Formats: sequence, C-alpha cells, structure tokens
Amino acid sequence: MPRRYFIRSDLLNSPITRMGGKKLLRKTICERFPENGTFDRYVEVFGGAGWVLFYKDKHAKLEVYNDADGELVNLMRCIKYHAGELRREINGWCNAREFFEDVSAQLDTRGLTDIRRAARYFLRMKLSFGADGRTYGCNTKNLSNATEYLIDVQRRLMSSSVVIEHKDFENLIKVYDRPKALFCCDPPYHSTEKYYDVQFTEADHIRLRDTLKNIKGKFLLSYNDDEFIRELYNGFKIDAVERQNNISGGRFKELIITNY
Ligand SMILES: C[S@@+](CC[C@H](N)C(=O)[O-])C[C@H]1O[C@@H](n2cnc3c(N)ncnc32)[C@H](O)[C@@H]1O
Repeated sequence: MPRRYFIRSDLLNSPITRMGGKKLLRKTICERFPENGTFDRYVEVFGGAGWVLFYKDKHAKLEVYNDADGELVNLMRCIKYHAGELRREINGWCNAREFFEDVSAQLDTRGLTDIRRAARYFLRMKLSFGADGRTYGCNTKNLSNATEYLIDVQRRLMSSSVVIEHKDFENLIKVYDRPKALFCCDPPYHSTEKYYDVQFTEADHIRLRDTLKNIKGKFLLSYNDDEFIRELYNGFKIDAVERQNNISGGRFKELIITNY
C-alpha cells in the first residue's frame, strides 16, 4: 500500500518543500482569515509550495495560486493538468547523486517539454539538501511515495479549478482586487531574499506596501519579525506570533499583518 501523507481531506500537504514554506504557520494564518462568506475570491500572491492553499479543500469560490518563479508555476500547472504523465517521467529516475547532478544540469538546457522540465525541477528539489536545489541531500527519500501523492494534489487543484498565475505581485493584486477579495501574501522574508531564484529587493518590499495600502479588498501578510517591516506597516494591525524553527529547533518570531 502506498503511504498516505494526510488523513483529512481538508489537510493536504504541499508536494514540495521550499525555503519559507508555511507548513508550521498555516493553521495560525487560516484562523486569522476574515469570517467565512465575507470574501469570495482567495488569492495566494506569493504561492511558493502553496501550504496555505492546500490546507483547506476550498477557501473561496475563486482561488488563485501565483508565483513569479516560472519553474514553480510550470510544476504546479503540470501537476494540475498532467499529473499521470509527470509521475511516469519522475518514476524513470531514482535517488542518487549522479541523477541529482544530471537533472540539475538538464534544467539549464533548452528544448525540454513542460512535463520533462517540471519532472527535473521536482527531482532537483526532492533530492537536494533541505530542498535548497543546490546540493545533493544524501538521504533515503523515496520518490515513488512522493509521486503517488501528486494525484491527490491534482484533485485539489482540479476540484475547485484553482487558477494558476505567473505574475509579479503588483500587477496580480491590481487585476484581482475587488471589495470581496482576500489576498494572502507571504513574500520573501526581509533579509533572506537571496535564497529564492527570483530577485526580491528592498524596493520590492516598499512597492508591496504601497500596492496593499490602497486595495479595495482585504489582505493578510506574513513576515519575519523585523524592525524595517514593523516600521513599513505602521498603522496596520500587526500581530506577533511564534512557530517552531525547522532548522535550529528553537522558536521563530513572525508577524501577521492585516488591513481588517
Ligand atoms: C516565502 S515564499 C512563499 C512560500 C509559500 N507561502 C509556501 O507556503 O510555500 C516567497 C515566494 O515569493 C515568490 N516571489 C518572489 N518575488 C515575487 C514577485 N515579485 N511576485 C510574485 N512572487 C514572487 C518566490 O518565488 C517564492 O516562491
């Protein structure tokens, strides 16, 4: 029997691990959403691995997953529309350092189909140390368990027909902004931006604040607890919360900022 990764249909894990993923904060984030029925569109602006999106069967009538990272967006699209083919492509590989190096090198070449590219991106992340995509993980990760799970994720993306976008946050927020929209924003933490493939600068943090301060809808924003961020969002509701730190095992302070 393949191992099941979740036991409740409304508690789906993300198929991938990424730096800054909200696995340990997703419950706290969802508990702070506006009351059910007060929003009819849910937009995950910095989708990443989608931990908050997958935490519920459905957040709203319209759901949007977005990220500026094209590899990630291609992977999510292939899971949604081609999970079976993607599994077959991934299952042709196994967990070995040479395979990790090969898939990493092939990602830098042209001419791969979307499914072959998504498979290599998935493998590079799965086989790397701490999912950093940079160094071989030297662990016993079982790829067939991971691919079995893609079908569950496909079902989630299909059942409520999640719209998958590939936009910069500013344009995305402008396009989807309505009085009954909820924007869930989890940008790169201030001062850890270098860990992502897409550049995020100090000016982008300011641009995000300037975009969010004028919206018609509601936003919930998560950040690391940082003076610059506290200052930037002075005047909004700021809650300090704590979660376990995946790396050190200690506690890590985060901010949840809302305009409601
Ligand atoms: C902290 S991660 C999001 C983690 C996600 N909430 C999760 O649970 O996995 C931040 C994400 O923002 C994306 N990103 C960076 N710059 C962006 C931009 N200008 N517009 C949209 N997304 C961006 C990165 O590619 C990264 O996936």
